[in-house]
Amino acid sequence: MLVLLKRDSEEISRQAAQLVAGAVRKKPGLVLGLATGGTMVDVYKHLVQLHKEGSLDFSRVVTFNLDEYLGLPATHSQSFHYFMREHFFSRVNVNPRNIHIPDGTIQGNYDQYCASFEEDIRKAGGIDLQILGIGRNGHIGFNEPTSSLASRTRLKVLSQETMDDNAKSFAPGEERPRCAITMGIGTILEARKIILLATGAAKAAAVAKSIEGPIASAVSASVLQLHPEVTFIVDEQAASQLTQREYYRRVLEMTALLTPDRLS
Ligand code: GLP
Repeated sequence: MLVLLKRDSEEISRQAAQLVAGAVRKKPGLVLGLATGGTMVDVYKHLVQLHKEGSLDFSRVVTFNLDEYLGLPATHSQSFHYFMREHFFSRVNVNPRNIHIPDGTIQGNYDQYCASFEEDIRKAGGIDLQILGIGRNGHIGFNEPTSSLASRTRLKVLSQETMDDNAKSFAPGEERPRCAITMGIGTILEARKIILLATGAAKAAAVAKSIEGPIASAVSASVLQLHPEVTFIVDEQAASQLTQREYYRRVLEMTALLTPDRLS
């Protein structure tokens, strides 16, 4: 596990975009796992900029998004379909046929739908690089605390904390989603490489538990400790409860010196 300590969200988003860009340049048909949320907005901004400058081609990239609210159509301004179109897909040249986002409008037959989403990932050859944010409660995707660490893509009931966090995005009185379709933790762990981004003091406890705490279903992101190629990129505030910050800095220095490929 690598922990990159950055000053602020600008540095984080730049670094994450560079890692994604490097991966796409190395493998133009990259299978890229994508995330939504405020933390991701500037990552997409930088990727769009690289594309506009002519240095990044997404035409062969295949994407899989982590999750979508149940009940929201792609046209709803709070849907993750809408988010992705606004911030990324309408601004770069990803082939629409290569875009996969769980469908929030399905009704019934959830298991069958989720199995077909998993099948699509398999058919694409598996996810090469998965980008993750993290919830205040340590969730990744919408794998809320106590999610099975072996879970697959499925219908998931949102926790009260997540509904409260996301409530601010919905109009007063508007009905808010109580469930989501999300990749499972087992699905996420199969990605060949994982990057998790976290900014701000509200994420500090979740980040510390995920990196330095025991692996527990109570903190879904802690399972990433089992993954051989995971990089946490966190800003000063999100890193404030980590006890081994000095060690992470030294690891980074030595990695840059001895195995620089690990950082690109
Ligand atoms: C939602 C998404 C997560 C994301 C989280 C954090 O819950 N399902 O994938 O990590 O939001 O969002 P933000 O970056 O806005 O804090």
